[in-house]
Amino acid sequence: MKKINIVEVGPRDGFQNIDEYIELEDKLDIIEKLVLSGIKDIQHTSFVSPKAVPQMKDAKELTELSLEKFPNVNFSALVPNYKGVEIADSLGLKHVAYVVSLSESHNKANINKTHEQSLEEFTRIKNDFPDMNITLDLSTTFGCPFEGKKNTDKILNFIKPYIDLGIKDLNLCDTIGVANPEEIKNIINMVKNEHPSIELQIHIHDTRNMGVVNTYTAILEGVSKIQSTLGGLGGCPFAPGASGNLSTEDMVYMLNDMNYDTGIDFDVLKEAALKQLKLIPQGNYSGHHQFIKTKQNDNQGS
Ligand code: COA
Ligand code: ZN
Repeated sequence: MKKINIVEVGPRDGFQNIDEYIELEDKLDIIEKLVLSGIKDIQHTSFVSPKAVPQMKDAKELTELSLEKFPNVNFSALVPNYKGVEIADSLGLKHVAYVVSLSESHNKANINKTHEQSLEEFTRIKNDFPDMNITLDLSTTFGCPFEGKKNTDKILNFIKPYIDLGIKDLNLCDTIGVANPEEIKNIINMVKNEHPSIELQIHIHDTRNMGVVNTYTAILEGVSKIQSTLGGLGGCPFAPGASGNLSTEDMVYMLNDMNYDTGIDFDVLKEAALKQLKLIPQGNYSGHHQFIKTKQNDNQGS
């Protein structure tokens, strides 16, 4: 059986886009339901400025409680800078995703840094936190809201210094959902040919309902770790046009049906999505979430 590791990023990439604060207990409740479904990898929060993303203001408490309540889950947090890694380390969190955008204008809009500053900060992080497990989240890999697709040729040059500094895990992110399967295939192969030992992940937004086909293409090209969000919740407050993510339940449904080993129980996952729907109502979902609509209709007896 082919194994696929699904990384649930809803509590970070999904929740960050919700204006109204989701109570800490409700976040934990959704995480608990995700864990019950069999999900083992969860990006539960981000250590970012609470002024930039107020929803993440409880990141420290959520981390402490998550680590305590669910010791068998691999939790990770997104970090934009040194301070984020410092906080993760102080809480005993062993895994972070260091975010940097391939497009410099998005890097500025998102985390107020030039490429040079992001690399300089990463160098200090590697130096001071050699044991931290760090995934490089390469935002706008497939296109940027400000610069379009012109940067894709620069990927290899861009990632090289990070790989030289010890990055072993690279997450190719389609931040605004503009990739197509050919581009997914070409970029994955370009990176694999140059860096065969790097572990690749894929993070797809579902702007044009191409989330499943793009992610599946990445799987066919050998990526064994994929990211998605419960209910397809998601977006980036700093990327105009960013839409919902690939929905975890759609992907799990398809992969389980194709006899991939996801380790996730679809029916329990549906319960998690319904729980989330009660807390975060329909209007917040910009992505594809057909299952929720169907299930909701079922509940109403129609
Ligand atoms: N965690 C928590 N707080 C942080 C932080 C972190 N990793 N990094 C900085 N801060 C706080 C600082 O302490 C400071 O707080 P204060 O105003 O109360 O003193 C404030 O944020 C500004 O810090 P500064 O270092 O001057 O950063 P900045 O204003 O240049 O902003 C970022 C840079 C990276 C902190 C900010 O742009 C950010 O948080 N971006 C995240 C965007 C995001 O989450 N995007 C979606 C996910 S990709
Ligand atoms: Zn995203």
